[in-house]
Amino acid sequence: MNAFTDVDRSGRGPELLHYLDDAHRGLAAPKGVMRAGLDVPAGHDVLDLGCGAGHELVELERTGRCAFGADSSRLMLDASRQRLEALGLPVRLVRADAHRLPYADGVFAGCRVERLLQHVDDPAAVLAEAHRVLRPGGSLAVLEPDWATLALASEDPEAARIIADAVGGHVPHRRMGRQLRGLLVAAGFADVRVEVELVVYTSVTELSHVISLERAAHAAWTGGLIPQERAQVLLREQHLLSESGAFHATFQRTTVAWARRPPATGQ
Ligand SMILES: C[S@@+](CC[C@H](N)C(=O)[O-])C[C@H]1O[C@@H](n2cnc3c(N)ncnc32)[C@H](O)[C@@H]1O
Repeated sequence: MNAFTDVDRSGRGPELLHYLDDAHRGLAAPKGVMRAGLDVPAGHDVLDLGCGAGHELVELERTGRCAFGADSSRLMLDASRQRLEALGLPVRLVRADAHRLPYADGVFAGCRVERLLQHVDDPAAVLAEAHRVLRPGGSLAVLEPDWATLALASEDPEAARIIADAVGGHVPHRRMGRQLRGLLVAAGFADVRVEVELVVYTSVTELSHVISLERAAHAAWTGGLIPQERAQVLLREQHLLSESGAFHATFQRTTVAWARRPPATGQ
């Protein structure tokens, strides 16, 4: 089971909370881009679907929005509550499965969904719920990775491709970034806009904050996709390139999409 699909039963709570703290810092730029495109004036209600440890609930409150958080994990909601209470901010949290939200139709002016869809059973059903709880004309912002976009410079491009293909193999929807536009259109959203962030990595260490080449290589050889020896040669090559300053990898780290629930007819 992928840990973020069921945090409470994963037995990895503290590690996942730490990961989200790191990501909040490391993803500051694309998160800022995502925030800037969420078209909701101060004083209006915004739902953070899959709110995790509440980092973005704080950001919403700081910009004058009324932040509501929904998450399936008790542990994540406890972390959100502590974060909000420590800052004296209002706590509006519910434990809920994003496939079946306990809100009436059309109650939110905005909704943000960050790094949730890749982990759920049915991303289309979750977006249908986001559409339902947004009021007509309401604004949606989504941020997801696309784990299948790592490209490595190598003397063995075939081995590099096989190992890159094994990145994020445990994530149920590892190509979510490139699927966002299609899913949003199919869910009935209008004004869909998508931006991709391409990051260049110049060392194995730098890349390791996002992707472990060792883990991907291990998954590739244990999955029978490549002989262990060939994968290990590639790993050695990548470490040598890194030590000499010649390492080059690119990765579409985030895809951000914005959309709107179409206004009611006559509006
Ligand atoms: C990778 S974390 C992202 C958290 C937060 N959005 C952020 O960007 O920091 C994914 C979150 O989705 C929650 N989650 C996973 N499946 C869910 C579901 N079916 N319904 C609601 N929340 C879910 C997890 O508990 C976790 O808090």
